[in-house]
Amino acid sequence: MSHNLPIGVFDSGVGGLTVLKTLEAQLPHESFVYLADTARLPYGDKTPQQIIAYFHEIAEWMKNHPIKMLMVACNTSSSLALPTLETLEDLPFPVIGTIQPTVSRVAFSHRCLGLIATQATVQSGAFEKNLKASNSNLSLHSIPCPKLVPLIESYNLNSEETRAIVYEYLSPLLQHPIEGLIYGCTHYPHLSPLIKNILPPQSAIINPADYMALEALSFLRTHNLLKTSGLAETTFYTTGCPQHFQSSLKIFYGKVTSVQKVNFL
Ligand code: DGL
Repeated sequence: MSHNLPIGVFDSGVGGLTVLKTLEAQLPHESFVYLADTARLPYGDKTPQQIIAYFHEIAEWMKNHPIKMLMVACNTSSSLALPTLETLEDLPFPVIGTIQPTVSRVAFSHRCLGLIATQATVQSGAFEKNLKASNSNLSLHSIPCPKLVPLIESYNLNSEETRAIVYEYLSPLLQHPIEGLIYGCTHYPHLSPLIKNILPPQSAIINPADYMALEALSFLRTHNLLKTSGLAETTFYTTGCPQHFQSSLKIFYGKVTSVQKVNFL
């Protein structure tokens, strides 16, 4: 496999851009292919079977691109689809999700954590199972937040409505001595100012994007796949409306760039 190939990144929509930005900062010479599956957004209210099928369709598309590594910048897909990989045919590239890199780096340093995530991620119990397997003394308080992804995707980031909904979701967590809050959905860092205002100042924010970038860097180095010089380029694809995703990129990524349409459906 050539180290010049790009790294694939996908999410249901603008959430994965929070991961992409971290990856671009940590891996400045790497090129990326970003796929937003906006036609099937939100993933959080889909069945496990649907989420698994979407993952395999996207992985197949990435195979043909081709890429040297796949970053699953979606907690819902990481929770439900990645565990099925062990039993299915291996993919021709390494796959890094949100959960394993986070759990391996935070499980031992905490006793009580909060998790906010989609309905499907919370129901899967994936964070809980993995955290407890590493540290059985850790208690995790999980809150599903189904209203947040639609608000974020419709650019409703700072309204009174959004603030009230974020408060409603976080309030039960404030009853527990949480040392940190895991962003169990890659969309939620887009609401960081609101979230940080509500959390007690001593609670740390645990953003899986940071741990995914560390894991990617370490894997690429170890396997001599890291690109350390030359120009980098990020190309964008969507299963939805390219013009709409272009507007989203202006808001959430800070750049105007072209977006190509992918037809899976
Ligand atoms: N950003 C994704 C996640 O981390 C998906 C959210 C959704 O589409 O519901 O779970």
